Amino acid sequence: PKILVLVSGSGTNLQALIDASRERDFPGQITAVGSNRPGAFALERAAQANIETFVVDHKNFDSREEFDAALMAEIRRHNPDLIVLAGFMRILTTDFVRAFRGKMLNIHPSLLPRHTGLNTHHRAIEAGDDFHGVSVHFVTEELDGGPVIAQAEVQVAPDDTPESLAEKVLEKEHILYPIVVRWFCEGRIQLGSDYILFDGEIL
Ligand code: GRF
Repeated sequence: PKILVLVSGSGTNLQALIDASRERDFPGQITAVGSNRPGAFALERAAQANIETFVVDHKNFDSREEFDAALMAEIRRHNPDLIVLAGFMRILTTDFVRAFRGKMLNIHPSLLPRHTGLNTHHRAIEAGDDFHGVSVHFVTEELDGGPVIAQAEVQVAPDDTPESLAEKVLEKEHILYPIVVRWFCEGRIQLGSDYILFDGEIL
C-alpha cells in the first residue's frame, strides 16, 4: 500500500515511520510527504530518504476551504491508500475528511477522549493526571474525536514538566505509530460506521 504523510513541523513521527518502512517485512511504502509549511524540517527528513515532497502553503489561500481543495487535489495526484497525519497542525474541513474517510490516521498526544486540542502535556499536569499518553485514531469530522485504534500510556511524575512529559509521550508515539500503520497496511483495521474492525472483530 502507498502511504502519504502530512507534516508541519520537526517530523520525528515521520522519521519513525521512515525507519520502520525500511524493515524488509514492512507492508507499506511512503511514496510522498506533504506539508503546509515550506520550512518544515520534516521535508528535509523526507528528502534525505529520497521520498517525493510537496508543499501546499496555507498562507497562499484566502480560506480554509480553498487550502483544503488544493491539498486534496495534490493528494489525489499521488492516489495513496493511506494518509498519515504526523504532527500536521491544520484543522481539516468536513469535505476533506469525508473524501478520505477510513483511510486517514492521526496521532494525538493524550489519552483521548481526555485533552483534545492543544497544550495537552501542560493540561495533563494541571489536571493532576497520574497517567497521560498518546492515541492513534481514524480522522473523522470531529477534531481529535475519531474512533481510537490504539493508545500508549506514560506515568506523570510529580516533578514532570510539560517538556519532560512531552519527551516521554513522543517516545511512545514513535513506537505506536509504526505499529498501527503496519496494521492498516496489512488490512487488519477498518473503520466501520461507528466502530473499528480489527482482524474482522469489532473492537
Ligand atoms: C508532537 O507534539 C506530537 O505529539 C504531535 O505533533 C508534534 C510534533 O510531532 N503528533 P513531529 O515531531 O513533527 O512528528
